[in-house]
Amino acid sequence: MSLQGKNVLLDKLKQLKEKLAARSDSKIKIGYQLVDVGDFESVEKAVMGAIDQLGNVDVLINNAGLALGAPSPFNDLTHAQIMTMNNTNINGYMYMTYAVLNKAMLRKKAGTILNVTSITGLEVPPFPGEAVYHANKACQEAFTNAIRNELKGTDIRVLALRPGCVATNFHSQRVGHNKEMYDSFFEGFEPLVAPDIARAAVFMLEQPLNVSIKALDVVPSAQRSITVFDRKWNERR
Ligand SMILES: NC(=O)c1ccc[n+]([C@@H]2O[C@H](COP(=O)([O-])OP(=O)(O)OC[C@H]3O[C@@H](n4cnc5c(N)ncnc54)[C@H](OP(=O)(O)O)[C@@H]3O)[C@@H](O)[C@H]2O)c1
Repeated sequence: MSLQGKNVLLDKLKQLKEKLAARSDSKIKIGYQLVDVGDFESVEKAVMGAIDQLGNVDVLINNAGLALGAPSPFNDLTHAQIMTMNNTNINGYMYMTYAVLNKAMLRKKAGTILNVTSITGLEVPPFPGEAVYHANKACQEAFTNAIRNELKGTDIRVLALRPGCVATNFHSQRVGHNKEMYDSFFEGFEPLVAPDIARAAVFMLEQPLNVSIKALDVVPSAQRSITVFDRKWNERR
Protein backbone atom coordinates (compact mmCIF):
# COMPACT_ATOMS: atom_id res chain seq x y z
CA MET A 1 0.00 0.00 0.00
CA SER A 2 1.30 3.50 -0.83
CA LEU A 3 2.18 5.93 1.94
CA GLN A 4 -0.69 8.12 0.75
CA GLY A 5 -3.13 5.20 0.98
CA LYS A 6 -1.88 4.44 4.51
CA ASN A 7 -2.35 8.03 5.57
CA VAL A 8 -5.91 8.10 4.23
CA LEU A 9 -6.77 4.96 6.21
CA LEU A 10 -5.08 6.24 9.36
CA ASP A 11 -7.05 9.43 9.02
CA LYS A 12 -10.30 7.45 8.72
CA LEU A 13 -9.44 5.43 11.84
CA LYS A 14 -8.54 8.57 13.76
CA GLN A 15 -11.91 10.12 12.87
CA LEU A 16 -13.71 6.93 13.89
CA LYS A 17 -11.87 6.90 17.21
CA GLU A 18 -12.88 10.51 17.87
CA LYS A 19 -16.51 9.76 16.99
CA LEU A 20 -16.61 6.73 19.31
CA ALA A 21 -14.84 8.61 22.11
CA ALA A 22 -17.40 11.42 21.91
CA ARG A 23 -20.21 8.89 22.35
CA SER A 24 -18.72 6.71 25.09
CA ASP A 25 -17.77 6.78 28.72
CA SER A 26 -14.45 8.60 29.15
CA LYS A 27 -13.06 5.58 31.04
CA ILE A 28 -13.27 3.43 27.88
CA LYS A 29 -9.91 3.15 26.11
CA ILE A 30 -10.10 3.24 22.32
CA GLY A 31 -7.10 2.40 20.15
CA TYR A 32 -6.56 1.49 16.52
CA GLN A 33 -3.99 -0.30 14.38
CA LEU A 34 -3.61 -0.51 10.63
CA VAL A 35 -3.42 -4.15 9.52
CA ASP A 36 -3.44 -6.33 6.43
CA VAL A 37 -4.92 -9.52 7.86
CA GLY A 38 -3.37 -11.55 5.05
CA ASP A 39 0.16 -10.55 6.08
CA PHE A 40 1.33 -12.38 9.19
CA GLU A 41 3.97 -9.80 10.13
CA SER A 42 1.42 -7.01 9.89
CA VAL A 43 -1.02 -9.04 12.04
CA GLU A 44 1.54 -9.72 14.79
CA LYS A 45 2.56 -6.08 14.86
CA ALA A 46 -1.06 -4.91 15.09
CA VAL A 47 -1.93 -7.39 17.85
CA MET A 48 1.14 -6.36 19.88
CA GLY A 49 0.24 -2.72 19.26
CA ALA A 50 -3.32 -3.32 20.48
CA ILE A 51 -2.03 -5.03 23.62
CA ASP A 52 0.32 -2.08 24.28
CA GLN A 53 -2.55 0.36 23.85
CA LEU A 54 -5.29 -1.53 25.67
CA GLY A 55 -3.55 -4.00 27.97
CA ASN A 56 -5.12 -7.25 26.74
CA VAL A 57 -7.41 -8.75 24.11
CA ASP A 58 -10.62 -10.16 25.58
CA VAL A 59 -12.61 -10.31 22.37
CA LEU A 60 -11.46 -10.97 18.82
CA ILE A 61 -14.00 -10.38 16.05
CA ASN A 62 -12.73 -11.80 12.78
CA ASN A 63 -14.75 -9.78 10.31
CA ALA A 64 -12.48 -8.65 7.44
CA GLY A 65 -13.55 -10.42 4.28
CA LEU A 66 -14.45 -10.02 0.65
CA ALA A 67 -15.88 -11.65 -2.45
CA LEU A 68 -14.58 -10.79 -5.90
CA GLY A 69 -15.57 -11.51 -9.48
CA ALA A 70 -19.22 -12.52 -9.00
CA PRO A 71 -20.99 -14.14 -10.75
CA SER A 72 -18.08 -15.62 -12.72
CA PRO A 73 -17.49 -19.36 -12.54
CA PHE A 74 -14.20 -20.42 -10.93
CA ASN A 75 -12.34 -20.85 -14.22
CA ASP A 76 -13.07 -17.26 -15.23
CA LEU A 77 -11.70 -15.68 -12.05
CA THR A 78 -8.24 -14.15 -12.21
CA HIS A 79 -5.41 -15.67 -10.24
CA ALA A 80 -5.16 -12.39 -8.29
CA GLN A 81 -8.86 -12.60 -7.30
CA ILE A 82 -8.46 -16.18 -6.10
CA MET A 83 -5.33 -15.34 -4.09
CA THR A 84 -6.82 -12.19 -2.53
CA MET A 85 -9.97 -14.01 -1.40
CA ASN A 86 -8.09 -17.02 -0.01
CA ASN A 87 -5.54 -14.86 1.71
CA THR A 88 -8.03 -12.52 3.36
CA ASN A 89 -10.83 -14.93 4.12
CA ILE A 90 -8.75 -17.92 5.23
CA ASN A 91 -5.24 -16.82 6.19
CA GLY A 92 -6.64 -13.60 7.64
CA TYR A 93 -8.90 -15.45 10.12
CA MET A 94 -6.16 -17.93 11.00
CA TYR A 95 -3.34 -15.38 11.39
CA MET A 96 -5.43 -13.11 13.62
CA THR A 97 -6.59 -16.02 15.76
CA TYR A 98 -3.07 -17.43 16.04
CA ALA A 99 -1.57 -14.10 17.08
CA VAL A 100 -4.34 -13.26 19.56
CA LEU A 101 -4.30 -16.72 21.14
CA ASN A 102 -0.53 -16.77 21.55
CA LYS A 103 0.02 -13.15 22.52
CA ALA A 104 -3.03 -12.64 24.71
CA MET A 105 -5.90 -15.06 25.30
CA LEU A 106 -3.94 -18.20 26.17
CA ARG A 107 -2.03 -16.32 28.88
CA LYS A 108 -5.24 -15.97 30.90
CA LYS A 109 -6.97 -18.89 29.18
CA ALA A 110 -9.95 -16.60 28.65
CA GLY A 111 -11.64 -14.62 25.91
CA THR A 112 -14.14 -14.83 23.08
CA ILE A 113 -13.41 -15.30 19.39
CA LEU A 114 -16.33 -14.36 17.17
CA ASN A 115 -15.92 -15.30 13.53
CA VAL A 116 -18.18 -13.54 11.04
CA THR A 117 -18.78 -16.33 8.53
CA SER A 118 -21.88 -16.43 6.29
CA ILE A 119 -25.01 -18.44 5.65
CA THR A 120 -23.17 -19.56 2.49
CA GLY A 121 -20.76 -21.52 4.69
CA LEU A 122 -23.44 -24.11 5.41
CA GLU A 123 -25.12 -24.39 2.06
CA VAL A 124 -22.09 -24.80 -0.19
CA PRO A 125 -22.42 -24.74 -3.14
CA PRO A 126 -25.56 -22.60 -2.98
CA PHE A 127 -25.62 -21.59 -6.66
CA PRO A 128 -23.21 -21.51 -9.61
CA GLY A 129 -20.44 -18.91 -9.35
CA GLU A 130 -18.46 -17.55 -6.39
CA ALA A 131 -16.85 -20.93 -5.73
CA VAL A 132 -13.86 -19.45 -3.90
CA TYR A 133 -15.85 -17.17 -1.59
CA HIS A 134 -18.34 -19.92 -0.68
CA ALA A 135 -15.53 -22.40 -0.07
CA ASN A 136 -13.75 -19.79 2.08
CA LYS A 137 -16.83 -19.40 4.26
CA ALA A 138 -17.20 -23.19 4.62
CA CYS A 139 -13.55 -23.26 5.69
CA GLN A 140 -14.22 -20.57 8.30
CA GLU A 141 -17.07 -22.70 9.70
CA ALA A 142 -14.79 -25.75 9.92
CA PHE A 143 -12.01 -23.70 11.50
CA THR A 144 -14.45 -22.27 14.06
CA ASN A 145 -15.61 -25.75 15.08
CA ALA A 146 -12.07 -27.16 15.11
CA ILE A 147 -10.54 -24.53 17.37
CA ARG A 148 -13.56 -24.57 19.68
CA ASN A 149 -12.72 -28.24 20.30
CA GLU A 150 -8.99 -27.58 20.65
CA LEU A 151 -9.57 -24.87 23.23
CA LYS A 152 -11.26 -27.28 25.62
CA GLY A 153 -9.67 -26.76 29.05
CA THR A 154 -9.77 -22.96 28.68
CA ASP A 155 -12.49 -20.32 29.12
CA ILE A 156 -12.09 -19.24 25.51
CA ARG A 157 -15.40 -19.31 23.62
CA VAL A 158 -15.46 -19.62 19.83
CA LEU A 159 -18.58 -18.44 18.01
CA ALA A 160 -19.82 -18.03 14.44
CA LEU A 161 -22.09 -15.22 13.31
CA ARG A 162 -23.61 -15.89 9.89
CA PRO A 163 -25.05 -12.91 8.06
CA GLY A 164 -27.44 -13.17 5.14
CA CYS A 165 -27.70 -10.19 2.75
CA VAL A 166 -26.40 -6.99 4.27
CA ALA A 167 -26.25 -3.77 2.26
CA THR A 168 -22.55 -2.89 2.63
CA ASN A 169 -19.68 -2.21 0.28
CA PHE A 170 -19.27 -6.00 0.13
CA HIS A 171 -22.08 -6.53 -2.40
CA SER A 172 -20.97 -3.68 -4.62
CA GLN A 173 -17.37 -4.93 -4.62
CA ARG A 174 -18.54 -8.50 -5.21
CA VAL A 175 -19.99 -7.53 -8.62
CA GLY A 176 -17.14 -5.17 -9.55
CA HIS A 177 -19.22 -2.11 -8.51
CA ASN A 178 -21.74 -2.74 -11.30
CA LYS A 179 -24.78 -0.74 -10.12
CA GLU A 180 -27.32 -2.65 -12.19
CA MET A 181 -26.22 -6.01 -10.81
CA TYR A 182 -26.10 -4.56 -7.29
CA ASP A 183 -29.64 -3.14 -7.53
CA SER A 184 -31.12 -6.30 -9.03
CA PHE A 185 -29.66 -8.37 -6.16
CA PHE A 186 -31.64 -6.37 -3.60
CA GLU A 187 -34.73 -5.92 -5.76
CA GLY A 188 -38.06 -5.99 -3.96
CA PHE A 189 -36.90 -6.51 -0.38
CA GLU A 190 -35.22 -4.73 2.48
CA PRO A 191 -31.73 -6.07 3.17
CA LEU A 192 -30.05 -5.89 6.55
CA VAL A 193 -27.74 -3.01 7.38
CA ALA A 194 -24.46 -3.15 9.33
CA PRO A 195 -26.02 -2.17 12.71
CA ASP A 196 -28.30 -5.27 12.50
CA ILE A 197 -25.19 -7.46 12.48
CA ALA A 198 -23.48 -5.37 15.15
CA ARG A 199 -26.52 -5.81 17.43
CA ALA A 200 -26.39 -9.58 16.94
CA ALA A 201 -22.66 -9.61 17.74
CA VAL A 202 -23.24 -7.66 20.95
CA PHE A 203 -26.01 -10.10 21.91
CA MET A 204 -23.64 -13.05 21.43
CA LEU A 205 -20.80 -11.37 23.33
CA GLU A 206 -22.97 -10.29 26.26
CA GLN A 207 -24.00 -13.82 27.22
CA PRO A 208 -22.70 -15.10 30.57
CA LEU A 209 -19.49 -17.13 30.41
CA ASN A 210 -21.30 -20.47 30.66
CA VAL A 211 -23.39 -19.70 27.57
CA SER A 212 -21.99 -19.98 24.02
CA ILE A 213 -24.23 -19.04 21.14
CA LYS A 214 -22.14 -21.29 18.92
CA ALA A 215 -23.69 -20.01 15.71
CA LEU A 216 -26.30 -17.46 14.82
CA ASP A 217 -27.86 -16.93 11.37
CA VAL A 218 -29.03 -13.32 10.93
CA VAL A 219 -30.83 -12.76 7.64
CA PRO A 220 -33.35 -10.31 6.20
CA SER A 221 -36.85 -11.68 6.87
CA ALA A 222 -37.38 -11.70 3.10
CA GLN A 223 -34.40 -14.03 2.59
CA ARG A 224 -36.09 -17.34 3.29
CA SER A 225 -32.99 -19.38 2.44
CA ILE A 226 -29.79 -18.53 0.68
CA THR A 227 -31.44 -18.60 -2.74
CA VAL A 228 -35.10 -17.93 -1.97
CA PHE A 229 -36.01 -14.25 -1.71
CA ASP A 230 -39.44 -12.78 -1.16
CA ARG A 231 -39.23 -10.09 -3.87
CA LYS A 232 -42.77 -8.90 -3.02
CA TRP A 233 -41.63 -7.88 0.47
CA ASN A 234 -41.52 -4.14 -0.26
CA GLU A 235 -44.95 -4.20 -1.98
CA ARG A 236 -46.52 -5.28 1.30
CA ARG A 237 -45.00 -2.42 3.36
N1 LIG B 1 -22.56 -7.99 3.32
C1 LIG B 1 -23.07 -9.20 3.32
O1 LIG B 1 -24.17 -9.44 2.76
C2 LIG B 1 -22.36 -10.35 3.99
C3 LIG B 1 -23.03 -11.59 4.04
C4 LIG B 1 -22.42 -12.67 4.66
C5 LIG B 1 -21.18 -12.50 5.24
N2 LIG B 1 -20.54 -11.28 5.18
C6 LIG B 1 -19.21 -11.18 5.80
O2 LIG B 1 -19.21 -10.07 6.68
C7 LIG B 1 -17.85 -9.61 6.82
C8 LIG B 1 -17.83 -8.10 6.70
O3 LIG B 1 -18.24 -7.73 5.39
P1 LIG B 1 -19.04 -6.39 5.09
O4 LIG B 1 -20.35 -6.77 4.50
O5 LIG B 1 -19.03 -5.48 6.26
O6 LIG B 1 -18.14 -5.83 3.88
P2 LIG B 1 -17.34 -4.47 3.74
O7 LIG B 1 -18.20 -3.32 4.09
O8 LIG B 1 -16.73 -4.54 2.38
O9 LIG B 1 -16.22 -4.59 4.86
C9 LIG B 1 -15.15 -5.50 4.74
C10 LIG B 1 -14.05 -5.05 5.66
O10 LIG B 1 -12.95 -5.96 5.52
C11 LIG B 1 -11.77 -5.19 5.49
N3 LIG B 1 -10.71 -5.90 4.80
C12 LIG B 1 -10.72 -6.48 3.57
N4 LIG B 1 -9.54 -7.03 3.29
C13 LIG B 1 -8.73 -6.79 4.36
C14 LIG B 1 -7.39 -7.09 4.68
N5 LIG B 1 -6.60 -7.80 3.84
N6 LIG B 1 -6.90 -6.67 5.87
C15 LIG B 1 -7.67 -5.96 6.73
N7 LIG B 1 -8.95 -5.65 6.48
C16 LIG B 1 -9.48 -6.05 5.32
C17 LIG B 1 -12.16 -3.92 4.74
O11 LIG B 1 -11.23 -2.90 5.04
P3 LIG B 1 -11.07 -1.65 4.03
O12 LIG B 1 -12.34 -0.91 4.08
O13 LIG B 1 -9.91 -0.91 4.61
O14 LIG B 1 -10.79 -2.27 2.70
C18 LIG B 1 -13.54 -3.65 5.33
O15 LIG B 1 -13.43 -2.91 6.52
C19 LIG B 1 -17.03 -10.35 5.74
O16 LIG B 1 -16.32 -11.40 6.36
C20 LIG B 1 -18.10 -10.91 4.81
O17 LIG B 1 -17.67 -12.08 4.16
C21 LIG B 1 -21.12 -10.20 4.56
